[in-house]
Amino acid sequence: ETGKFTYDPGFMSTASCRSAITYIDGDAGVLMYRGYPIEQLAKNSNFLEVSYLLMNGELPNQAEFAKFEHEVTHHTMMHEAFRTFLYGFRHDAHPMAMMTGMLGSLAAFYHGDLDLEDPEQRRLAAIRLLAKVPTIAAACYRYSIGWPIRYPRNNLEYVERFLHMMFEVPSEPLVMKPVAARALDLLFILHADHEQNASTSTVRLVGSTGANPYACVAAGIAALWGPAHGGANEAVLEMLKEIGRPENVGSAIEKAKDKNSGFRLMGFGHRVYKNFDPRAKIIREMCHQVLGELGVNDPLLEVAMKLEEAALKDEYFIQRKLYPNVDFYSGIIYKALGIPTEMFTVMFAIARTAGWVSHWLEQQVDPENKIGRPRQIYTGAVSRDYTPIAQR
Ligand code: SDX
Repeated sequence: ETGKFTYDPGFMSTASCRSAITYIDGDAGVLMYRGYPIEQLAKNSNFLEVSYLLMNGELPNQAEFAKFEHEVTHHTMMHEAFRTFLYGFRHDAHPMAMMTGMLGSLAAFYHGDLDLEDPEQRRLAAIRLLAKVPTIAAACYRYSIGWPIRYPRNNLEYVERFLHMMFEVPSEPLVMKPVAARALDLLFILHADHEQNASTSTVRLVGSTGANPYACVAAGIAALWGPAHGGANEAVLEMLKEIGRPENVGSAIEKAKDKNSGFRLMGFGHRVYKNFDPRAKIIREMCHQVLGELGVNDPLLEVAMKLEEAALKDEYFIQRKLYPNVDFYSGIIYKALGIPTEMFTVMFAIARTAGWVSHWLEQQVDPENKIGRPRQIYTGAVSRDYTPIAQR
């Protein structure tokens, strides 16, 4: 009611940080960016406006948005030296491996002129990351398929510019269906931030040491790559392809319940949500609309719907409060947009860069920001005396 949240001291002693950016209620399935429910932002906003909101705490007015969009648009280019770095990778390296390296190279490139004490320089670094990550992502993809890299076109909006860099071929102009750009923009909004998830916590831990933001985001990308985190959207598609047909869903459910199988339903379960992930609900509805407007009939969508239906009725999943999460349906839309499976987690990284830079900016001005030092429970040997090797 007062617009302020209060926590019992016990909780505060275990919390890793304070933040005003994103609020999640896992039991109620609530997600808010700076107090705005994700459902309202998904319906009314766009990714660049949401990025401004996450970074600055308020929605921009028209003049503020125009300035922000101009700044981001005019920082999308990569220095030509990055081509040499990119071309040093094996062409078939996983795009997330390339992204980790490329973001680290941004740290090397910009480190020299970055004064972290200067708020304007910090803001510029955040703008550069938001602007350049799509350019780098598209360049990694083009390099991996042997196509020439495409320069960002400043007359396009953020998502259209990215799709153009990804798919434009010299022989014919890219015909982009508006539904494709809108669908990707919406997926970017839904993936933009998510409180203290593994990759954002990684960014904050690295940031707490005073490392520059490019190195922080490179660390965040590395953390996001794992199949238990952002890599899950790629793993969901592999899982659905392996299940293959709706009639095979029952055996997949039984396999996921067998601890010895080592098989988990990818895209199911969550550290925080013990109810529906609100993002999964929005993406599931999007699936039908986007595939319908694109005229795509993907049999994997039916497999996913049957798998969800069977899991939600199964005692094992009900007892453990396992619901579809943000990754369960997103891959089906990425696939319909022509984005290859190995680029799914890169999509997640592009969107989450907005959250990562926002948390980094917030941390830099937090008077209580100390170097991170997660606690451990020691389970090793008790104190004992050294014995010479001849006596071992
Ligand atoms: C993201 O943190 C975030 O906010 C992350 C994220 C974001 O936006 O940043 O939301 C993005 O990472 C979403 C999660 C994507 N990952 C997956 O979909 C991978 C599949 N899911 C799981 O591996 C798992 O659910 C996790 C990793 C997401 C959560 O793992 P936990 O915390 O270990 O799950 P848990 O301890 O709450 O599990 C409770 C039980 C366990 O069984 P029991 O030991 O109690 O018998 O449920 C089981 C688990 O084995 N379980 C599953 C399962 N997930 C948990 N069993 C089958 N299939 C699953 N997917």
